[in-house]
Amino acid sequence: MKRRTAEPYKIKSVEPVAMLSYEERKQSLQQAGYNTFLIDSKDVYIDLLTDSGTTAMSDAQWGALMTGDEAYAGSKSWRKLEEAVRDVYGFQYVLPTHQGRGAENILSQLKIKKGDVVPGNMYFTTTRAHQELNGATFVDIIIDEAHDPTIEHPFKGNVDLIKLQKVIDEVGAENIPYVCLAVTVNLAGGQPVSMQNMKLVYDLCKIHDIDVMLDATRCVENAYFIKEREAGYANRSIAAILKEMMSYADGCTMSGKKDCLVNIGGFLAMNDEELYIRSRELVVVYEGMPSYGGMAGRDMEAMAIGIRESIDDHYIEHRIGQVRHLGEQLIDAGIPVVKPIGGHAVFLDARAFLPHLRQEEFPAQALAAALYLDSGVRSMERGIVSAGRNKTTGQHNTPNLELVRLTIPRRVYTNNHMDVVVDSIVDLYKKRASICGLKMDYEPPTLRFFNARFSPLSENGELMSETNRTS
Ligand code: F0G
Repeated sequence: MKRRTAEPYKIKSVEPVAMLSYEERKQSLQQAGYNTFLIDSKDVYIDLLTDSGTTAMSDAQWGALMTGDEAYAGSKSWRKLEEAVRDVYGFQYVLPTHQGRGAENILSQLKIKKGDVVPGNMYFTTTRAHQELNGATFVDIIIDEAHDPTIEHPFKGNVDLIKLQKVIDEVGAENIPYVCLAVTVNLAGGQPVSMQNMKLVYDLCKIHDIDVMLDATRCVENAYFIKEREAGYANRSIAAILKEMMSYADGCTMSGKKDCLVNIGGFLAMNDEELYIRSRELVVVYEGMPSYGGMAGRDMEAMAIGIRESIDDHYIEHRIGQVRHLGEQLIDAGIPVVKPIGGHAVFLDARAFLPHLRQEEFPAQALAAALYLDSGVRSMERGIVSAGRNKTTGQHNTPNLELVRLTIPRRVYTNNHMDVVVDSIVDLYKKRASICGLKMDYEPPTLRFFNARFSPLSENGELMSETNRTS
């Protein structure tokens, strides 16, 4: 018999969660315009909206808050953070930012000129927004397999080197400010990039004198998949794998709210001194002094510790295991999900779940709303709504992937919570034919998924049949 394992932590403080009735959830959903981003957290039972900033900190992190040095300049806490980033990731120069998009803003402003092209392994919303705001066009160079939720591939986040070479040939290396390489790839389903692929991308870029900038937001999760799946890494520590990954890049942007195990913070790191000096100027304009960059001293203390905790082999093994605990039960129940199960989330394939809906009827948005209605579990649309509109044609971008993301916060929920989520999704799948599409009543001009409002397309105004409803 396979021995079971449990969470590698014990619980020291608890936060009660809401258990609303069906009628109360229905009201809350209507008030939120069927957009899970707009539901109040007080009305949510299990919150799988995001793994961003939702981490439970350790007792060591909470303890360190008290030692935060809140000096405006030259904070001791900043030095600890800088040292942790250098030690664990290996980059020479580090600048703090209030979160990941702060680093994206600075990098994009400094590296991009109007008309440039930024190749990347699938877009991320804020990352692409900053590239576009600075006049660049994003070009997707991820392998084709990443766009098909049914294909099993151990490194579905990999770059297609032929696609990358083609972009270089077509637009010229001088118009490519950097290649943006995400490890793991959020919107592909938390899929990793192999070490071999990272090295090949780096080698190709160096031939053409192009920088590789990592989106290192979930790099520790990526390192775990390398350890598990790539020949030669099984006996290496996560710390060693992570260092090697970073050696195939010129720098990175980081949202500390994920793998750095904190609720706020980020950084920009690099090896190029000149870029560092120019970045430091912009940090002052947008974030704050280069010794706090939008973070309080206590936040930097917590992040310095979180970075070191994140490379603990037991922590990361459990982390990926919990996501798999949710995902594999869904697969066993015949629920269509993105395969293989990725690092931070399980993604429901809303096209396959609700085949009777057209993409313009926002199937993933409708499924996320139905899941909340059924059980108070909050998830997130990652499909046509998140993809926004084409800049030139004004039409909806229509991504192949029409997904609902069930994102697991780090160290927050137990596997029992995951089981509750499975039960709700299995019940919904049985009555999937009764779930109707949505129409968009309000569409914000940028990053529309955050604030868009919808209503059901059914005649009676209900999102789904109310037979067998939960209480
Ligand atoms: N890059 C990736 C891959 C991300 O997933 C995120 C944030 C960012 C950059 C931006 O970082 O939020 O600190 O400014 N992702 C969150 C999510 C919002 O829910 O996936 P940020």
